[in-house]
Amino acid sequence: MTDTVFNKLSSRIKGFYKQTQNKRLNTITQTVHLSDNSETLLRNGGGLDVQIADYMSENVIASHGLPLSIALNFRINDNDHLMPMAIEESSVVAAASNAARLTRSTGGFYGKADDPIMTAQIQFDAVPKPKQTCHIVMENQAAILKEGNAAIPRMVARGGGCVSLEARLIDEQEGIIVIHIYINVGNAMGANLVDTVAEAIAPKLQTLMGGILGLRILTNLTLRRMVSVQTAIAIETLGSLEIVTAIERASRFAEKDPMRAVTHNKGIMNGIDAVALALGQDWRAIEAGAHAYAAFSGTYKPLAVWRHKNNELQGTMTLPLAVGTVGGITSVHPGVKAAFELIQISDAQQLAIIMASAGLATNFAALRVLASEGIQRGHMNLHHRHKKIKTSLH
Ligand code: MEV
Repeated sequence: MTDTVFNKLSSRIKGFYKQTQNKRLNTITQTVHLSDNSETLLRNGGGLDVQIADYMSENVIASHGLPLSIALNFRINDNDHLMPMAIEESSVVAAASNAARLTRSTGGFYGKADDPIMTAQIQFDAVPKPKQTCHIVMENQAAILKEGNAAIPRMVARGGGCVSLEARLIDEQEGIIVIHIYINVGNAMGANLVDTVAEAIAPKLQTLMGGILGLRILTNLTLRRMVSVQTAIAIETLGSLEIVTAIERASRFAEKDPMRAVTHNKGIMNGIDAVALALGQDWRAIEAGAHAYAAFSGTYKPLAVWRHKNNELQGTMTLPLAVGTVGGITSVHPGVKAAFELIQISDAQQLAIIMASAGLATNFAALRVLASEGIQRGHMNLHHRHKKIKTSLH
């Protein structure tokens, strides 16, 4: 397998897993330039200072840690990335690294993300003449969006802001209308911006529409903020046509059975959530959006599918992914800041592509083992490791 390095960082580090934790950290600090603060933090174990924890939440008594690992071998849109993952489940990081290695001979992962458009929902009940009211709202679109933009001037100055709206007649008899405001939130995840707009616009809408004003909140089903990724693994890399067709059959199983699809998707979220946690993302929002999208057709479906085509196993995946490189805890949590220095990305769209690639990798890794020798061997390794840890702690 030949590796062409497209940028100066290579995510291929031979024998990394065999090194001690300390040596691994040395290797990483030699590979990526970290700020002094981040390097000191990681050298001291990376924990969250309890004073910062106290600032972040309520009733804090201590801080809580997880292993921070690096998944290797990821090449995404022709650039190599070290993938920080915070996860307690052993074998996910190794599986992601192995999967990413197998994709390299065909170029790795390729992806694209929508503009960062979030959706606010403003609920009205008992609106008189609902159909006519929807038209009135649409006629006043420009004035409503202007009011929304006035509530988020800094985002507007950065090139974001309210872009359009939609009046959704949910129940004509009961006069239930939900107004969607579509907002470009730039590099933020955007929940606060969206909620600010929803609350700022609501009084104007109430005057226009009448009825009873209800909720003003984002939807986590961010259908205008989708990401798609794809990858391919050559048959010769996988070793046999048999394993390729077995993985395709496993994919079809998930496509036809929601009971399997949910576990298939859990394997995807193993990768996405681990990166989300390392990078301080709202993983509950990500989970909610992913599963809602999986069920959006009315039947729960796998987010990723795999096919044998052109002498390759090809995987594709699309899901909503609302993630940010600014805001939230990205500027507060020192471990998150360090993880951002490790992953080296420029914007939220790139982050979405990278996280989705991690998910496609862990999905492939799970299907590969399930469709061949079975998961139990991996589990046995895990039990041995836990037994070893317990013994060494006593
Ligand atoms: C375990 O964390 C994830 C898997 O169950 C995913 C799958 O079944 O595809 C192995």
